[in-house]
Amino acid sequence: MKIGDVTTMEIVNQVAIVQTDAPPVNALAAPVRAGLVTALQSAIADPSVHAIVLSCAGRTFHAGADITELSTGPVSPTLGELLALLEQCPKPVVAALHGTTLGGGLELALTAHYRIAAEDARVGLPEVQLGLIPGAGGTQRLPRVCGVGPALDIITSGRHVNAGEALTLGIVDRLVPAASLAAAAREWAHELIATGAPCRRVSERAIEGTRDAQHAVISAFTAAQGKAFSRLHAPAAAIRAVQAAVDQPFAAGLASERAEFVKLLQDPQSRALRHLFFAERALSKSRFISKEAAPLPIHRVGVVGAGTMGGGIAMNFLNAGIPVHLVEVSAEALERGLSVIRRNYASSAAKGKLTAEAVTTRLGLLASSTDLASLSDCDLVIEAIYENMDAKLELFGRLDGLVKPSAILASNTSYLDIERMGQATRRPQQVLGLHFFSPANVNRLLEVVRTASASSETLATGLAVAKRIRKLGVLVGNAHGFVGNRMLAQRQREADKLILEGALPWDVDRVLETFGLPMGPFRMRDLAGMDIGWNRTASASSTVREILCEQGRLGQKTKSGYYDYDESRRATPSTVAERIVLDFAAEHGYVRRPISDEEILERCLYPMVNEGARILAEGIAERASDIDMVWTTGYGWPVWTGGPMHWADQVGLAHIVERLRHYESLYGADFVPSEHLQRIAAAGGSLG
Ligand code: COA
Repeated sequence: MKIGDVTTMEIVNQVAIVQTDAPPVNALAAPVRAGLVTALQSAIADPSVHAIVLSCAGRTFHAGADITELSTGPVSPTLGELLALLEQCPKPVVAALHGTTLGGGLELALTAHYRIAAEDARVGLPEVQLGLIPGAGGTQRLPRVCGVGPALDIITSGRHVNAGEALTLGIVDRLVPAASLAAAAREWAHELIATGAPCRRVSERAIEGTRDAQHAVISAFTAAQGKAFSRLHAPAAAIRAVQAAVDQPFAAGLASERAEFVKLLQDPQSRALRHLFFAERALSKSRFISKEAAPLPIHRVGVVGAGTMGGGIAMNFLNAGIPVHLVEVSAEALERGLSVIRRNYASSAAKGKLTAEAVTTRLGLLASSTDLASLSDCDLVIEAIYENMDAKLELFGRLDGLVKPSAILASNTSYLDIERMGQATRRPQQVLGLHFFSPANVNRLLEVVRTASASSETLATGLAVAKRIRKLGVLVGNAHGFVGNRMLAQRQREADKLILEGALPWDVDRVLETFGLPMGPFRMRDLAGMDIGWNRTASASSTVREILCEQGRLGQKTKSGYYDYDESRRATPSTVAERIVLDFAAEHGYVRRPISDEEILERCLYPMVNEGARILAEGIAERASDIDMVWTTGYGWPVWTGGPMHWADQVGLAHIVERLRHYESLYGADFVPSEHLQRIAAAGGSLG
């Protein structure tokens, strides 16, 4: 029997089988809730029905509330209304879970009287990742089934819990092979009818342990979080809601949870995190990739250059089970690169992150040589040699003659023109950029650089490769510095100017770290190595950075840079570096003045927004949200602001243009607002 557009109900031997089919993920949108309410009401009213099974068609049981609806406000029947009806249902209800039962989906399952799951199912309450907490009883029911400690962990982390763990914790009652879930759920319902089993309501259960023990667990958990949650509002609200579950009767706890949820829904942090959720999903859609374009199969990858980047890049593929052939010019350089890879894996094994077998498997997939010809059977070759255009052009020309005709050639360059590299080959349509970010085996960002000549298939392959190696692939245009580094250059320029005009490196770092970046620009330079891009022979003490390099202050690796570092890499502002900054400023005629934190922040960040607007106007990024993904993923821009473009929209573009004009009047052309930014600001529009 069809009930509405997305729900069916079939009565088989006293059991009503209710099924929702609302692709892609059976989110609990208004039509889904309405269908479930009608189905439940009709099953309750039907005297021939003695038990009910709730299930979903397609890839998953309900994967949550409908996130798009969160911005538009509740529509009746609400999830709360649906769950109240479900809980009070006088006939036993079994929820049959497969796929990813998340958020509102798990809240619904916890309200049903019994839960059975496929062995490969996963469950979770990921709302904190959207700046929210469960708002339909999740924080009240989960502690009642699995105890306060596991509930706090699951709710504040938002992690997916696999079926085995869910069974152990009591979140589900039974596991069965995925193929037999429907039949097993039905049989269980018959069994419940036959044994006269009660409607077992989680809300009526007591939470395990004494009140004192429960409080002790909450206090210990809160203390153990330290700074981890300090800037995010949702995890603290989740802890308060679990505390309410402990201290208050069920109905009052539910009301406390609701109040926290409603407050978070209005919080700009949640709007920012929801923006990033959809921003991530938009990445796979591009007007530069035709719908018909299929990614090419990648069975074997070549990496040229076994330096830090090349080695890190190779590890990504090995980790994903893809064979890699690593090539270096000399046997010594190759051995150096290989030993770093081996050392990295050994250290992961020592920390318990990888088993010895996993290390052996990965290293077994790695071949190496000093001969480019050995790349002839690779489907994708990534160049990761030093940043020199002539060397890259020569390499691309040679590779073109060696690799098979179908192979794709990629460059890991951070700045150089990839179109030119393509023109050095007879296959420019099969050339693209794959710009990894340091440390390449850890950082999740991958800029997939599109040239004018690259084919749809080549670009689709770039994005598919990113997904396979668990990176976040962002398609960007072929411009100097692409998206990330082009915007970074704006910030770095201002940071370098500010320390001559009157601030000190640690002032600039402190302001940006207070804003939420994990590391300010000077601490970052110390970490990366002061000498990246430094040329010893051409060095002429023409910048503070050159002088630091000339004095051997190369950053953390020499235990001295802008900061001094102790054995455990703790940084203290360096008086030597400070002297260098002050002397350099004096020699170059700067009259130092006090600089406010506000000026530091605005001068570092508003030019980045301005550059982002230029990048959009030029089509180097397709969407403002792509820029937000680059910065939140690759550079640690605080997620609770939604990325630089979303943040700028919240600050107000008219205000940003006004401040840029102000700085332009004081310090000149670096602050001229771009036409695009001016136009949108004047129209009262937004970048996103
Ligand atoms: N509400 C609305 N739309 C949702 C959704 C939700 N809860 N969950 C997923 N979608 C949409 C996605 O936006 C995407 O739409 P698109 O194809 O138009 O871009 C589509 O469903 C598929 O999602 P995707 O994430 O690409 O698929 P996946 O198989 O990689 O992952 C999930 C599936 C369910 C694990 C993942 O989408 C997810 O984590 N969703 C959010 C779950 C959640 O937070 N629930 C609590 C909500 S309060």
